Amino acid sequence: MATWIDGKAQADALRETVADAVGRLVDQRGLLPGLAVILVGDDPASQVYVRRKGQHAREVGMRSFEHALPTATSQAMLLERIAGLNRDPRVHGILVQLPLPAHIDPEAVIHAIDPAKDVDGFHPLNAGALAVGGEGLVPCTPLGCVQLLKSQLGELAGQHAVVLGRSRIVGRPLASLLLREDCTVTVAHSRTPDPATICRQGDILVAAAGRPGLVRDDWVKPGATVIDVGITRLEDGDSRRLVGDVDAVSVSRVAGALTPVPGGVGPMTIACLLHNTLVAACRQLG
Ligand code: GUN
Repeated sequence: MATWIDGKAQADALRETVADAVGRLVDQRGLLPGLAVILVGDDPASQVYVRRKGQHAREVGMRSFEHALPTATSQAMLLERIAGLNRDPRVHGILVQLPLPAHIDPEAVIHAIDPAKDVDGFHPLNAGALAVGGEGLVPCTPLGCVQLLKSQLGELAGQHAVVLGRSRIVGRPLASLLLREDCTVTVAHSRTPDPATICRQGDILVAAAGRPGLVRDDWVKPGATVIDVGITRLEDGDSRRLVGDVDAVSVSRVAGALTPVPGGVGPMTIACLLHNTLVAACRQLG
């Protein structure tokens, strides 16, 4: 049976480290890191995530600025709000929760965020820095995945990592990050013929396809370390539950280690957001 990788415990530890560093920054440099989170619309899942981000920011001693805007907010109004946060010296990190309502172009929004405050790491300057090995801000979910992998495997160099999914939020930046760790990286996606055969080659398999239960035991190399990034909210009748891209029951019989959903990647993502806000604040200090 696979070992469960406890993302919640690791996220708790990372938040404690961030809280200590925030305390020192306040005491020694008089700098209180600030995180601004913008939510447009009333998607219930996004509301939960945004509330949790603000709550965790406060818990580690940061200042939290929460902007809940109505669905009808125009793109121009949103860009104006971002421009204000770019200018605000109390704000060191800015995150606009995705997805956005259909009338707003996410590219325009991502471009509008000051790259130095882009704690999501989605701005082309940060995405480019990651691709060419520079010193930008790195997207939170991939950062969390690599931390979980290192906790399980130590050194990642030489491992064959298969990333299932090519999104801007997870798949692409994660592939770059794993290359930085000297892994051999294969990216499989919705147009890959026979993804099971590709996935079965991975010493590491990261499932970030957004398709619940897609990865079954015959997709996994025996002993592989499997990271499940998928979070889909299933509603059957009155009961709601979160499920990952990995069929945990069958995969846990084959894999060496596996992250649970919930309690795996999710908590690490928020802890890495706080880490990025701290990094952004320190860099803005000069
Ligand atoms: N929606 C789902 N994941 C993310 C994320 O990492 N950042 C933002 N901004 N929105 C998201």
